[in-house]
Amino acid sequence: MSIHNGNTNENGYLVIDPTNERYRYQKIKEPLKFILQCVYLSLVFFPLLFLSAIKTLIARERSLKGQTVLVTGGAHGLGKELCFKFASLGCSIACVDINDKGSRETVIAIKERYPGVEAHSYHCDVRSKHEIRILHEHVKRDFQHLDILVHNAGDVTSAYLIDFEDKFLDNMIDLNLKSHFLIYREFLPEMIKRNKGHIVAIASLASVYSEMNFSIYTATKHGVLGR
Ligand SMILES: NC(=O)c1ccc[n+]([C@@H]2O[C@H](COP(=O)([O-])OP(=O)(O)OC[C@H]3O[C@@H](n4cnc5c(N)ncnc54)[C@H](O)[C@@H]3O)[C@@H](O)[C@H]2O)c1
Ligand SMILES: *[C@@H]1O[C@H](CO)[C@@H](O)[C@H](O)[C@H]1NC(C)=O
Repeated sequence: MSIHNGNTNENGYLVIDPTNERYRYQKIKEPLKFILQCVYLSLVFFPLLFLSAIKTLIARERSLKGQTVLVTGGAHGLGKELCFKFASLGCSIACVDINDKGSRETVIAIKERYPGVEAHSYHCDVRSKHEIRILHEHVKRDFQHLDILVHNAGDVTSAYLIDFEDKFLDNMIDLNLKSHFLIYREFLPEMIKRNKGHIVAIASLASVYSEMNFSIYTATKHGVLGR
């Protein structure tokens, strides 16, 4: 029996003949796919980069001194660095995390590096609307208003699409996607009332471009980027 250009042996397996066209196509398929992915990435990524560079160049520089900034996931990684950056610009910092030790360390480091800057740490699991409610009360107690909310807490974990735990899926969706809506619902009304405030949602390059085993992560981050 023969199918197209290949022949099958007595066990039904395809016998690959390196001289035939189909095999040669298989050999260039992967590199070709890689090149196409690079082209796709540059079509999406570089224009975005270019646009934000232009925006940055023409933007009037505004002082953030005295603004209150809440950063979720401030105990580690990007969130921690964002806390330092905002503190260096003279902002008051509300550092939010489930990692209390890490949050406290961020706050201590801010006070050492930027004397005079006000900073507090808060325990809050951003998957819980109840904890978000309490967080809001505590932030109102310590600072009058919140000017900038940076929702950065997230989980960057890969999973094989045909083998993952239910609780992994639930956590990814609750943390990386649902928490955005819970926290905005809590903090946005006051910003609207004051007609002042900014919300920054941390998405990812993976919002638009997925890698193997990152389908779930990409789906959540695509949701965050969604417009
Ligand atoms: N690491 C990357 O390569 C990368 C790339 C693009 C985007 N991002 C995004 O940037 C953000 C930060 O990533 P990172 O690499 O700094 O992560 P990280 O793991 O270093 O820090 C995440 C922080 O969030 C906290 N956190 C986790 N679950 C929480 C919860 N339920 N409630 C409150 N806080 C919680 C953790 O304790 C940790 O301190 C994420 O949203 C991530 O998706 C990361
Ligand atoms: C995806 O996950 C599977 C199963 O854990 C693993 O065998 C495979 O190497 C992973 N692929 C990549 C590109 O990480």
